[in-house]
Amino acid sequence: MRYLVTGGAGFIGSNTVDELVRRGHEVVVLDDLSTGKVENLSQASAKIKLMQNSITNLDAVREACRAADCVIHLAAQTSVPRSVKDPIETNLANVDGTLNVLVAARDAHVKRVVFASSCAVYGKTSELPIRESAALAPISPYGVSKQVGEAYGRVFQELYALEFVALRYFNVFGPRQDPGSPYSGVLSVFNAALLEGTQPTVFGDGEQSRDFVYVGNVVEAILLAAEAKRAPGLAINIGTGNRCTLNQTLALLEKITGRPARAKYAPPREGDIRDSQADIALAQDILGYHPRIGFEEGLSLTWEWFCAARNASNRTSVHGRLE
Ligand code: NAD
Ligand code: UD1
Repeated sequence: MRYLVTGGAGFIGSNTVDELVRRGHEVVVLDDLSTGKVENLSQASAKIKLMQNSITNLDAVREACRAADCVIHLAAQTSVPRSVKDPIETNLANVDGTLNVLVAARDAHVKRVVFASSCAVYGKTSELPIRESAALAPISPYGVSKQVGEAYGRVFQELYALEFVALRYFNVFGPRQDPGSPYSGVLSVFNAALLEGTQPTVFGDGEQSRDFVYVGNVVEAILLAAEAKRAPGLAINIGTGNRCTLNQTLALLEKITGRPARAKYAPPREGDIRDSQADIALAQDILGYHPRIGFEEGLSLTWEWFCAARNASNRTSVHGRLE
Protein backbone atom coordinates (compact mmCIF):
# COMPACT_ATOMS: atom_id res chain seq x y z
CA MET A 1 0.00 0.00 0.00
CA ARG A 2 1.03 3.61 -0.44
CA TYR A 3 0.87 5.69 2.74
CA LEU A 4 1.07 9.41 3.37
CA VAL A 5 2.23 10.10 6.94
CA THR A 6 1.72 13.73 7.97
CA GLY A 7 3.98 14.62 10.89
CA GLY A 8 6.14 11.64 9.87
CA ALA A 9 9.37 13.26 11.10
CA GLY A 10 8.01 13.53 14.64
CA PHE A 11 8.05 11.11 17.55
CA ILE A 12 5.06 8.86 16.80
CA GLY A 13 5.32 9.58 13.07
CA SER A 14 8.90 8.42 12.57
CA ASN A 15 8.33 5.25 14.59
CA THR A 16 5.30 4.58 12.35
CA VAL A 17 7.29 5.26 9.18
CA ASP A 18 10.02 2.79 10.22
CA GLU A 19 7.44 0.05 10.73
CA LEU A 20 5.64 0.80 7.43
CA VAL A 21 8.96 0.59 5.57
CA ARG A 22 9.87 -2.62 7.41
CA ARG A 23 6.59 -4.12 6.18
CA GLY A 24 7.38 -3.13 2.58
CA HIS A 25 4.92 -0.26 2.12
CA GLU A 26 5.57 2.88 0.07
CA VAL A 27 5.74 5.99 2.25
CA VAL A 28 5.53 9.73 1.66
CA VAL A 29 6.10 12.04 4.65
CA LEU A 30 4.70 15.56 4.82
CA ASP A 31 6.24 17.51 7.70
CA ASP A 32 7.17 21.15 8.25
CA LEU A 33 9.91 20.08 10.71
CA SER A 34 8.58 22.50 13.32
CA THR A 35 9.10 19.91 16.07
CA GLY A 36 10.07 16.91 13.93
CA LYS A 37 13.62 16.17 12.83
CA VAL A 38 15.19 14.78 9.66
CA GLU A 39 17.44 12.57 11.89
CA ASN A 40 14.32 10.76 13.11
CA LEU A 41 13.99 9.41 9.56
CA SER A 42 17.63 8.40 9.10
CA GLN A 43 16.79 4.66 9.18
CA ALA A 44 14.09 5.04 6.52
CA SER A 45 15.36 8.00 4.46
CA ALA A 46 16.58 6.02 1.45
CA LYS A 47 13.19 4.36 1.04
CA ILE A 48 10.75 7.22 1.56
CA LYS A 49 9.93 10.59 0.06
CA LEU A 50 10.09 13.50 2.53
CA MET A 51 8.21 16.68 1.62
CA GLN A 52 9.02 19.60 3.90
CA ASN A 53 5.85 21.66 3.94
CA SER A 54 2.92 22.55 6.15
CA ILE A 55 -0.51 20.95 6.26
CA THR A 56 -1.82 24.51 6.30
CA ASN A 57 -0.73 24.72 2.63
CA LEU A 58 -3.54 22.98 0.71
CA ASP A 59 -1.54 22.70 -2.53
CA ALA A 60 1.26 20.92 -0.69
CA VAL A 61 -1.18 18.51 0.95
CA ARG A 62 -2.78 17.78 -2.44
CA GLU A 63 0.64 17.02 -3.90
CA ALA A 64 1.49 14.73 -0.96
CA CYS A 65 -1.85 12.87 -1.18
CA ARG A 66 -1.43 12.00 -4.83
CA ALA A 67 -1.72 8.20 -5.31
CA ALA A 68 -1.95 7.53 -1.56
CA ASP A 69 -4.22 4.67 -0.43
CA CYS A 70 -4.18 5.68 3.22
CA VAL A 71 -3.28 8.83 5.14
CA ILE A 72 -1.94 8.57 8.68
CA HIS A 73 -2.57 12.10 9.90
CA LEU A 74 -0.31 12.94 12.84
CA ALA A 75 0.89 16.48 12.08
CA ALA A 76 -0.30 18.88 14.77
CA GLN A 77 0.61 21.38 17.41
CA THR A 78 0.73 18.75 20.15
CA SER A 79 1.16 20.65 23.40
CA VAL A 80 -1.70 21.37 25.81
CA PRO A 81 -0.02 24.38 27.58
CA ARG A 82 1.12 25.85 24.26
CA SER A 83 -2.51 25.73 23.08
CA VAL A 84 -3.55 27.62 26.22
CA LYS A 85 -0.94 30.27 25.42
CA ASP A 86 -1.71 30.50 21.71
CA PRO A 87 -5.09 29.01 20.73
CA ILE A 88 -5.03 30.56 17.23
CA GLU A 89 -1.76 28.85 16.30
CA THR A 90 -3.17 25.53 17.53
CA ASN A 91 -6.40 26.00 15.61
CA LEU A 92 -4.50 26.79 12.42
CA ALA A 93 -2.43 23.60 12.50
CA ASN A 94 -4.94 21.24 14.10
CA VAL A 95 -8.28 22.39 12.67
CA ASP A 96 -7.49 24.20 9.39
CA GLY A 97 -4.64 21.76 8.72
CA THR A 98 -6.86 18.73 9.35
CA LEU A 99 -9.57 20.14 7.09
CA ASN A 100 -6.95 20.51 4.34
CA VAL A 101 -5.88 16.88 4.83
CA LEU A 102 -9.49 15.70 4.56
CA VAL A 103 -10.25 17.79 1.45
CA ALA A 104 -7.04 16.68 -0.28
CA ALA A 105 -7.65 13.01 0.67
CA ARG A 106 -11.22 13.16 -0.62
CA ASP A 107 -10.17 14.70 -3.93
CA ALA A 108 -7.28 12.24 -4.39
CA HIS A 109 -9.66 9.30 -3.76
CA VAL A 110 -7.71 8.14 -0.74
CA LYS A 111 -9.48 5.17 0.85
CA ARG A 112 -8.92 5.86 4.54
CA VAL A 113 -7.63 8.54 6.93
CA VAL A 114 -6.37 7.50 10.39
CA PHE A 115 -6.47 10.60 12.57
CA ALA A 116 -4.39 11.25 15.70
CA SER A 117 -6.93 12.36 18.26
CA SER A 118 -6.34 12.50 21.98
CA CYS A 119 -7.84 11.63 25.33
CA ALA A 120 -7.76 15.42 25.85
CA VAL A 121 -11.19 15.43 24.11
CA TYR A 122 -12.73 14.04 27.32
CA GLY A 123 -11.57 16.79 29.68
CA LYS A 124 -12.21 16.14 33.39
CA THR A 125 -13.97 12.81 33.57
CA SER A 126 -15.23 11.54 36.89
CA GLU A 127 -15.43 7.91 35.84
CA LEU A 128 -12.30 5.88 35.18
CA PRO A 129 -11.37 4.04 33.04
CA ILE A 130 -12.71 6.32 30.31
CA ARG A 131 -14.96 4.76 27.70
CA GLU A 132 -15.44 6.23 24.23
CA SER A 133 -19.10 6.87 25.11
CA ALA A 134 -18.09 9.40 27.83
CA ALA A 135 -19.15 13.00 27.22
CA LEU A 136 -16.65 15.10 25.29
CA ALA A 137 -15.86 18.20 27.35
CA PRO A 138 -12.29 19.34 26.57
CA ILE A 139 -10.71 21.87 28.91
CA SER A 140 -7.96 23.17 26.61
CA PRO A 141 -7.90 24.65 23.10
CA TYR A 142 -5.82 21.59 22.15
CA GLY A 143 -8.64 19.26 23.27
CA VAL A 144 -11.18 21.35 21.35
CA SER A 145 -9.03 21.17 18.21
CA LYS A 146 -8.94 17.36 18.38
CA GLN A 147 -12.70 17.17 18.97
CA VAL A 148 -13.27 19.36 15.88
CA GLY A 149 -10.90 17.20 13.82
CA GLU A 150 -12.92 14.12 14.77
CA ALA A 151 -16.19 15.88 13.91
CA TYR A 152 -14.91 16.93 10.48
CA GLY A 153 -13.72 13.40 9.81
CA ARG A 154 -17.10 11.88 10.66
CA VAL A 155 -18.85 14.36 8.39
CA PHE A 156 -16.43 13.63 5.52
CA GLN A 157 -17.12 9.91 5.88
CA GLU A 158 -20.90 10.57 5.75
CA LEU A 159 -20.83 13.10 2.90
CA TYR A 160 -18.01 11.86 0.70
CA ALA A 161 -17.50 8.19 1.68
CA LEU A 162 -13.93 8.88 2.83
CA GLU A 163 -13.23 6.25 5.50
CA PHE A 164 -12.18 7.93 8.75
CA VAL A 165 -10.84 6.42 11.97
CA ALA A 166 -9.95 8.54 15.01
CA LEU A 167 -7.50 7.07 17.51
CA ARG A 168 -7.62 8.78 20.90
CA TYR A 169 -4.08 8.34 22.19
CA PHE A 170 -3.44 8.58 25.87
CA ASN A 171 0.08 9.59 27.00
CA VAL A 172 2.53 8.15 24.50
CA PHE A 173 6.21 7.79 25.41
CA GLY A 174 9.34 6.15 24.01
CA PRO A 175 12.36 6.60 21.75
CA ARG A 176 12.57 9.89 19.78
CA GLN A 177 10.19 11.80 22.03
CA ASP A 178 11.89 15.20 22.10
CA PRO A 179 12.64 16.54 25.61
CA GLY A 180 13.95 19.84 24.25
CA SER A 181 11.09 22.26 24.80
CA PRO A 182 9.14 23.50 27.83
CA TYR A 183 6.14 21.77 26.22
CA SER A 184 7.70 18.33 25.79
CA GLY A 185 6.01 15.14 27.04
CA VAL A 186 6.73 14.51 30.71
CA LEU A 187 8.58 11.19 30.39
CA SER A 188 11.02 12.55 27.82
CA VAL A 189 11.72 15.48 30.18
CA PHE A 190 12.21 13.16 33.17
CA ASN A 191 14.57 10.88 31.20
CA ALA A 192 16.61 13.86 30.01
CA ALA A 193 16.83 15.26 33.55
CA LEU A 194 18.08 11.94 34.93
CA LEU A 195 20.62 11.70 32.14
CA GLU A 196 21.90 15.23 32.83
CA GLY A 197 21.86 14.69 36.58
CA THR A 198 19.39 17.56 37.11
CA GLN A 199 16.29 17.54 39.27
CA PRO A 200 12.99 16.87 37.45
CA THR A 201 10.16 19.37 38.04
CA VAL A 202 6.69 18.10 38.90
CA PHE A 203 3.81 20.53 38.26
CA GLY A 204 1.34 20.07 41.10
CA ASP A 205 1.60 17.43 43.81
CA GLY A 206 2.66 14.60 41.50
CA GLU A 207 -0.44 12.61 42.36
CA GLN A 208 -1.99 13.31 38.93
CA SER A 209 -2.05 10.12 36.89
CA ARG A 210 -1.73 9.20 33.23
CA ASP A 211 -2.20 6.10 31.12
CA PHE A 212 1.33 6.01 29.70
CA VAL A 213 1.47 3.91 26.56
CA TYR A 214 4.71 2.84 24.83
CA VAL A 215 5.08 4.11 21.26
CA GLY A 216 5.54 0.59 19.83
CA ASN A 217 2.02 -0.27 21.01
CA VAL A 218 0.67 2.90 19.38
CA VAL A 219 2.36 2.11 16.05
CA GLU A 220 0.76 -1.34 16.17
CA ALA A 221 -2.65 0.27 16.76
CA ILE A 222 -2.19 2.71 13.85
CA LEU A 223 -1.33 -0.08 11.42
CA LEU A 224 -4.28 -2.15 12.60
CA ALA A 225 -6.60 0.87 12.24
CA ALA A 226 -5.40 1.42 8.66
CA GLU A 227 -6.92 -1.91 7.64
CA ALA A 228 -9.51 -3.04 10.21
CA LYS A 229 -12.86 -3.60 8.45
CA ARG A 230 -15.11 -2.35 11.25
CA ALA A 231 -13.02 0.71 12.24
CA PRO A 232 -14.32 3.43 9.88
CA GLY A 233 -16.58 5.95 11.58
CA LEU A 234 -15.27 5.13 15.06
CA ALA A 235 -13.18 6.98 17.64
CA ILE A 236 -11.10 4.44 19.56
CA ASN A 237 -9.06 4.80 22.76
CA ILE A 238 -5.42 3.75 22.55
CA GLY A 239 -3.76 3.36 25.93
CA THR A 240 -2.93 0.44 28.20
CA GLY A 241 -5.95 0.33 30.50
CA ASN A 242 -3.73 1.20 33.49
CA ARG A 243 -2.54 4.46 35.00
CA CYS A 244 0.41 5.63 37.05
CA THR A 245 0.96 8.81 39.07
CA LEU A 246 3.99 11.01 38.37
CA ASN A 247 5.35 10.22 41.84
CA GLN A 248 5.08 6.46 41.18
CA THR A 249 6.66 6.94 37.77
CA LEU A 250 9.66 8.74 39.27
CA ALA A 251 10.12 5.91 41.76
CA LEU A 252 10.09 3.39 38.91
CA LEU A 253 12.59 5.47 36.94
CA GLU A 254 14.87 5.59 39.95
CA LYS A 255 14.76 1.79 40.13
CA ILE A 256 15.33 1.30 36.40
CA THR A 257 18.09 3.86 35.92
CA GLY A 258 19.82 3.54 39.28
CA ARG A 259 19.88 7.35 39.44
CA PRO A 260 18.22 9.60 42.02
CA ALA A 261 14.85 10.89 40.79
CA ARG A 262 13.77 13.24 43.57
CA ALA A 263 11.64 15.99 42.09
CA LYS A 264 11.13 19.63 42.89
CA TYR A 265 7.47 20.66 42.96
CA ALA A 266 5.99 23.69 41.15
CA PRO A 267 2.40 25.01 40.80
CA PRO A 268 0.06 22.93 38.60
CA ARG A 269 -0.18 23.76 34.90
CA GLU A 270 -3.24 25.50 33.46
CA GLY A 271 -5.45 23.25 31.34
CA ASP A 272 -4.04 20.07 32.96
CA ILE A 273 -6.37 17.17 33.54
CA ARG A 274 -6.00 15.32 36.83
CA ASP A 275 -6.38 11.64 36.00
CA SER A 276 -6.55 9.66 32.85
CA GLN A 277 -6.95 5.96 32.12
CA ALA A 278 -8.25 4.33 28.97
CA ASP A 279 -10.85 1.64 28.63
CA ILE A 280 -9.36 -0.29 25.71
CA ALA A 281 -12.16 -2.82 25.17
CA LEU A 282 -13.22 -1.21 21.87
CA ALA A 283 -9.65 -1.25 20.53
CA GLN A 284 -9.35 -4.91 21.50
CA ASP A 285 -12.63 -5.78 19.79
CA ILE A 286 -12.42 -3.66 16.62
CA LEU A 287 -8.67 -3.64 16.00
CA GLY A 288 -7.48 -6.76 17.83
CA TYR A 289 -5.16 -4.36 19.71
CA HIS A 290 -3.19 -5.56 22.73
CA PRO A 291 -0.48 -3.36 24.32
CA ARG A 292 2.28 -5.97 24.19
CA ILE A 293 4.96 -3.79 25.75
CA GLY A 294 4.19 -3.02 29.40
CA PHE A 295 4.99 0.21 31.25
CA GLU A 296 8.20 -0.93 32.98
CA GLU A 297 9.55 -2.59 29.87
CA GLY A 298 8.72 0.57 27.88
CA LEU A 299 10.49 2.74 30.46
CA SER A 300 13.61 0.55 30.24
CA LEU A 301 13.62 0.65 26.42
CA THR A 302 13.18 4.42 26.53
CA TRP A 303 16.01 4.92 29.03
CA GLU A 304 18.31 2.71 26.89
CA TRP A 305 17.46 4.85 23.85
CA PHE A 306 18.17 8.12 25.68
CA CYS A 307 21.55 6.76 26.85
CA ALA A 308 22.44 5.53 23.34
CA ALA A 309 21.37 8.82 21.73
CA ARG A 310 23.53 10.76 24.15
CA ASN A 311 26.55 8.52 23.51
CA ALA A 312 26.07 8.92 19.76
CA SER A 313 25.86 12.71 20.04
CA ASN A 314 29.00 12.79 22.25
CA ARG A 315 30.84 10.72 19.62
CA THR A 316 29.69 13.08 16.85
CA SER A 317 30.82 16.18 18.69
CA VAL A 318 34.23 14.66 19.52
CA HIS A 319 34.59 13.63 15.89
CA GLY A 320 33.46 17.09 14.77
CA ARG A 321 36.13 18.74 16.93
CA LEU A 322 38.87 16.45 15.61
CA GLU A 323 38.00 17.41 12.05
P1 NAD B 1 5.63 15.49 17.51
O1 NAD B 1 5.68 16.93 17.80
O2 NAD B 1 6.86 14.68 17.69
O3 NAD B 1 5.09 15.23 16.04
C1 NAD B 1 4.30 16.15 15.34
C2 NAD B 1 4.91 16.29 13.95
O4 NAD B 1 4.07 17.13 13.17
C3 NAD B 1 6.30 16.93 13.98
O5 NAD B 1 7.17 16.21 13.15
C4 NAD B 1 6.05 18.34 13.45
O6 NAD B 1 7.21 18.87 12.79
C5 NAD B 1 4.88 18.10 12.51
N1 NAD B 1 4.05 19.28 12.31
C6 NAD B 1 3.55 20.13 13.24
N2 NAD B 1 2.80 21.09 12.66
C7 NAD B 1 2.84 20.81 11.32
C8 NAD B 1 2.26 21.44 10.19
N3 NAD B 1 1.52 22.55 10.30
N4 NAD B 1 2.48 20.90 8.96
C9 NAD B 1 3.25 19.79 8.83
N5 NAD B 1 3.82 19.16 9.86
C10 NAD B 1 3.61 19.67 11.10
O7 NAD B 1 4.42 14.90 18.38
P2 NAD B 1 3.89 13.42 18.58
O8 NAD B 1 3.87 13.17 20.04
O9 NAD B 1 4.57 12.48 17.66
O10 NAD B 1 2.35 13.61 18.13
C11 NAD B 1 1.82 13.08 16.92
C12 NAD B 1 0.31 13.23 16.95
O11 NAD B 1 -0.27 12.46 18.00
C13 NAD B 1 -0.21 14.66 17.16
O12 NAD B 1 -1.34 14.86 16.35
C14 NAD B 1 -0.58 14.70 18.62
O13 NAD B 1 -1.55 15.68 18.89
C15 NAD B 1 -1.10 13.29 18.81
N6 NAD B 1 -1.07 12.81 20.19
C16 NAD B 1 0.13 12.64 20.82
C17 NAD B 1 0.15 12.16 22.13
C18 NAD B 1 1.43 11.96 22.90
O14 NAD B 1 1.35 11.62 24.08
N7 NAD B 1 2.60 12.12 22.30
C19 NAD B 1 -1.05 11.85 22.77
C20 NAD B 1 -2.25 12.09 22.10
C21 NAD B 1 -2.25 12.54 20.80
C1 UD1 C 1 -0.02 14.71 26.45
C2 UD1 C 1 0.40 15.09 25.04
C3 UD1 C 1 -0.79 15.54 24.25
C4 UD1 C 1 -1.83 14.43 24.32
C5 UD1 C 1 -2.18 14.09 25.78
C6 UD1 C 1 -3.09 12.89 25.86
C7 UD1 C 1 2.68 15.91 24.69
C8 UD1 C 1 3.59 17.07 24.72
N1 UD1 C 1 1.41 16.15 25.07
O1 UD1 C 1 -0.56 15.86 27.15
O2 UD1 C 1 -0.40 15.73 22.88
O3 UD1 C 1 -2.97 14.75 23.60
O4 UD1 C 1 -0.98 13.70 26.43
O5 UD1 C 1 -3.23 12.55 27.20
O6 UD1 C 1 3.06 14.82 24.32
N2 UD1 C 1 4.51 17.54 33.90
C9 UD1 C 1 5.38 17.69 34.96
N3 UD1 C 1 6.66 18.04 34.71
C10 UD1 C 1 7.14 18.24 33.43
C11 UD1 C 1 6.24 18.10 32.35
C12 UD1 C 1 4.93 17.75 32.63
O7 UD1 C 1 4.99 17.52 36.12
O8 UD1 C 1 8.33 18.56 33.28
C13 UD1 C 1 3.12 17.11 34.19
C14 UD1 C 1 2.06 17.95 33.52
O9 UD1 C 1 1.72 19.09 34.29
C15 UD1 C 1 0.92 16.93 33.44
C16 UD1 C 1 1.65 15.59 33.24
O10 UD1 C 1 2.98 15.80 33.68
O11 UD1 C 1 0.21 16.90 34.66
C17 UD1 C 1 1.66 15.15 31.79
O12 UD1 C 1 2.10 16.25 30.99
P1 UD1 C 1 2.48 16.09 29.43
O13 UD1 C 1 3.48 15.04 29.25
O14 UD1 C 1 2.76 17.47 28.91
O15 UD1 C 1 1.15 15.48 28.85
P2 UD1 C 1 -0.35 15.96 28.76
O16 UD1 C 1 -0.51 17.40 29.11
O17 UD1 C 1 -1.15 14.94 29.49
